[in-house]
Amino acid sequence: MILTEAPVVTAALEAAVRAPSPHNSQPWLFELGPDTIDLVLDENRVLAVCDPDGREARLSCGAALLNLELAIAVAGRCCDVEFLPRKDRPELLARVTIGSRHRAAAAVQRLAASIRARYSNRRPFASTPVPAGFRHAVRQAARDEGAKLILLDEVGLLEAVAGLIRRADHVQMLDERFQAELRAWTKENGSRDGVPAYAGGPRPSGGLLPVRHYGNGDQTREFERDPVVAVLTTPTDGPLTQLRAGRAMQRALLTATSLGLSASFYSQPMEIPSARAVLRSLLGEHDHPQAVFRLGYGFPGSTTPRRPLGAVIRIMPGEDRR
Ligand SMILES: Cc1cc2nc3c(=O)[nH]c(=O)nc-3n(C[C@H](O)[C@H](O)[C@H](O)COP(=O)(O)O)c2cc1C
Repeated sequence: MILTEAPVVTAALEAAVRAPSPHNSQPWLFELGPDTIDLVLDENRVLAVCDPDGREARLSCGAALLNLELAIAVAGRCCDVEFLPRKDRPELLARVTIGSRHRAAAAVQRLAASIRARYSNRRPFASTPVPAGFRHAVRQAARDEGAKLILLDEVGLLEAVAGLIRRADHVQMLDERFQAELRAWTKENGSRDGVPAYAGGPRPSGGLLPVRHYGNGDQTREFERDPVVAVLTTPTDGPLTQLRAGRAMQRALLTATSLGLSASFYSQPMEIPSARAVLRSLLGEHDHPQAVFRLGYGFPGSTTPRRPLGAVIRIMPGEDRR
């Protein structure tokens, strides 16, 4: 069916690779069968220092999976998703089987239209408040995928979490292994993976939050005083939860994009186990934090490149598949 369904498959893969990933590492591969797309974690692209367990890579793959499903839907097909279909192959994260014709709902089309528009905006946001209805919509998006998105509205809590982010950022700045990995993924403009200098954003002059240093240069700017910081949490942790959390993260990000909002990540406390434990206790809940990002009205920026589809697909003959 691959040949006859090629436009659906190409559209789905082009959408999938637009997912965010730490340092734009793009830790995914897609194995194409006669009527299936297998999403595989590319273990060679898991970041050894900031993501030794592959948690962030699985979040990224979960985001890619949601994009894939949305694109299949807007291409007029339904699909069935099996999570972790083979116990003997844990890197095989999901099998997507393309099904019969199906008309996508308007809400699905809106979300899918945001896949290409979304990007990490590390610049200052406008001071315009994010309306309550928009906050609700982004929270609901995460809830629809079984996760919780906590917006740090309480001033004391925001300051405590921002302080934790700053301290974790400082620890990473002093960590030579972390710095070497960051440098390796900070790429010249024109590279198809890694973070290009133009996406780095300026350094904040004071303010609550640091910005990760992706070749940002010496430019400094004042950031918004009251950032809207969101923490995505899940009731359990582990590979399946992380994959699903990635879908929740992406649904929240796409919903935000569809509402004209920008976002940028602050994973520093997620990448240091003791800081992640402190974040968990600060939230006063038993849930596990999975991702931290800032939301707001950004000034226009640009998307970052991705590797060509040829670099991320493998065509699998039928008999190799089960
Ligand atoms: C799990 C995860 C963690 C991330 N952590 C950070 C971070 O701490 N700081 C940052 O500036 N970007 C972070 N990013 C954003 C990536 O660098 C970004 O997604 C990637 O460079 C691709 O760019 P795009 O989001 O503009 O498409 C993270 C992304 C993911 C999925």
